[in-house]
Amino acid sequence: MTARIIDGKVLSDTIKTEVAQRVQKLQQQGMTPGLAVVLVGEDPASQVYVRNKAAACEKAGFLSRVVRLPADTTQQQLLDVVQELNQDDAIHGILVQLPLPPHMDSGLVIETIAANKDVDGFHISNAGLLMTGRPLFRPCTPYGIMKMLESENVGLRGAEAVIVGASNIVGKPMAMLLLAAGATVTLCNSKTRDLAAQTRRADVLVVATGKPGIVTGDMIKPGAVVIDVGINRGTDGKLVGDVDFESAQKVAGAITPVPGGVGPMTIAMLLVNTVEAAERALQASHQPA
Ligand code: GUN
Repeated sequence: MTARIIDGKVLSDTIKTEVAQRVQKLQQQGMTPGLAVVLVGEDPASQVYVRNKAAACEKAGFLSRVVRLPADTTQQQLLDVVQELNQDDAIHGILVQLPLPPHMDSGLVIETIAANKDVDGFHISNAGLLMTGRPLFRPCTPYGIMKMLESENVGLRGAEAVIVGASNIVGKPMAMLLLAAGATVTLCNSKTRDLAAQTRRADVLVVATGKPGIVTGDMIKPGAVVIDVGINRGTDGKLVGDVDFESAQKVAGAITPVPGGVGPMTIAMLLVNTVEAAERALQASHQPA
């Protein structure tokens, strides 16, 4: 068997076109969605991500503001920037690119973002809403993965879903979304005793560890849907995922490639969250005070 390739590029383009249509509607009502991306320091990967996010925003017709701050910015200076963006009516979404320099408290910075502008969905209030089944913003990567599973008609009710990697950005919110869709969810972490025994049970396997090749074909149930969130630079300079694609492809029913899988979806869902934030702001402005 050779797995079907789930093309994140094609699906993300469809979603971006839908967003551009929603932007046009907003513009007819005098509103342009605005996204501010804050980048502290010079992490090369973060610079690429921020550039891609800003370019996608502009293409969709958003106002895009990138705030670049030096690595020695104080925490208070960053909090002041976030608070100014919270007050700025032209900005509907705020994203502080992670990781932040070590002298900063990421939790405090994220908690300072107004929850209704937190298009990453990382604020504790948004994490809590997601956990209790009333999401305001779904974190972009897991949200994009749900869209991919939906577009592939993957049945999730009663399915065994196994997630490798329990980060706040991907693994934990992914577990909440799959659980809400009716899957039985196993969330593995770096202490999991027999990882292969867990992954082999999975009808849907999501891998988000940042460890290239941590999952190989022999750890996959034949016919499973494999979602690879990893973006790692191989020794030859090429991008590779967390899943060993070659061996996995021979066993899985469907698999996401790296690049061109989950990555483009994350950006598309950031645009979805931002246009939604702008739509909510417009609606709120029509409500009597
Ligand atoms: N760093 C890696 N992924 C992300 C993300 O989705 N959002 C932010 N803000 N930082 C990240």
